[in-house]
Amino acid sequence: MEQQLKQLEQEALTKIQAAANLKELNDVRVAYLGKKGPITDLLKGMGKLSPEERPKMGALVNAVRENVTAQLEQRATVLEEQAIQEQLEKESIDVTLPGRQVRSGNRHPLTRVVEEIEDLFVSMGYTIAEGTEVERDYYNFEALNLPKGHPARDMQDTFYITEETLLRTHTSPVQARTMEAKKGEPIRIISPGKVFRRDNDDATHSHQFMQIEGLVVGENIRMSDLKGTLDKLAKKMFGEDREIRLRPSFFPFTEPSVEMDISCFKCGGSGCNVCKQTGWIEILGAGMVHPNVLEMAGYDSKKVSGFAFGIGAERIAMLKYGVDDIRHFYTNDSRFLSQFHRTEG
Ligand code: PHE
Repeated sequence: MEQQLKQLEQEALTKIQAAANLKELNDVRVAYLGKKGPITDLLKGMGKLSPEERPKMGALVNAVRENVTAQLEQRATVLEEQAIQEQLEKESIDVTLPGRQVRSGNRHPLTRVVEEIEDLFVSMGYTIAEGTEVERDYYNFEALNLPKGHPARDMQDTFYITEETLLRTHTSPVQARTMEAKKGEPIRIISPGKVFRRDNDDATHSHQFMQIEGLVVGENIRMSDLKGTLDKLAKKMFGEDREIRLRPSFFPFTEPSVEMDISCFKCGGSGCNVCKQTGWIEILGAGMVHPNVLEMAGYDSKKVSGFAFGIGAERIAMLKYGVDDIRHFYTNDSRFLSQFHRTEG
C-alpha cells in the first residue's frame, strides 16, 4: 500500500507540473484529491488495516495529500502569473510603431496675399474696414462720382439684383461708406473683399475676384504720400529692389488717376515673358480722391484731401507664385492648393 501511495504521489506531481493552464490543473486536483479520487479511496480502505498499521498509514496518506495540495497551490500561482503575463503581452502597445502622419492644411494663396498686405498696412497705422458684397447702387457708383447713366459705368459690367442693389463691382464703395460714417474725421483704412463683374471666365478673367481697397483722408495728403505708400507695398510684395512707375489713367472717383507698374521681378527690367518684354508689370489703380467724392460724403474738399488705391489680389498672387490661370484659385483642386504648403510662412 505504501508503494501504491508513493506511485500515486509521483503521478500526481508529474501531472501537476504538466498542467498547462488553470483548468487542466483543476482537473488534476479533482482526479487525485476529489471524493472519487484514489487518495480518498485509500483513506476509505484504511478500515481493513490492523490497528498498529493504521496511524502510520494515516500519517503517510495525509503527508501525501498535503504535499500534493501544496504543489497544486504552487503550480496555480505560477500558472496565474503566466496567464497575466500573456494577457499583458496581448494587450501591450508597441510604442516603437511610427505614428500616422497628420495632414495639416495650409492657407489659400489668396488669403496669404491678403494677410500679407493687411500686415503691411496695419503696421503703418491703417485699420481694416469691411463692406458688403451686396451693395446699393448709390455706394457702388453714385457716391463715387458715377451718376446714373454715366458712360464710365460700362467699365464694370454689373450683376444687378434690383434697380438699386447689385453685387459690388469693386471695393471702392467701402470708401464712400467709411467717409460717410467718419463724418469729417481723418481716415486710414484698407478693405479686402470679394467683388463681382459680368465677365466671361477665362485664364485671366473671373466673374468673382478679390480686391483690397486703400483709403487715406486728412489734411495735406498729397500725391507723394500715395507714391511712397505704393512703393512700400511693391517692395514688400515683390522684393526690396523693386521700382515703381505711375502712369496717368482714369477713374471717375480719383483725380488725378494713375496705374502703378513695378519693375519686372523676373528680369529686373530688361524684358522677359513675365513683363511681356516691357520691363514693367501693371499692378494696380490709384489716385487722389476726387473732390466730388469728398464733398458727397460730407468732407470739405478745400480743407482735406486723400488718396485711394485698389489692388487685385489674384493678380498679385498670380505674379508672386507664377500661377498661369486665375481659375486655379477657385476650383479647390488640392493638387494646386497643397503646393503652397512648402512656402507657408
Ligand atoms: N475701383 C477701381 C477698380 O476696381 C480701382 C481703384 C480703386 C482705382 C481706388 C482708384 C482708386 O478698377
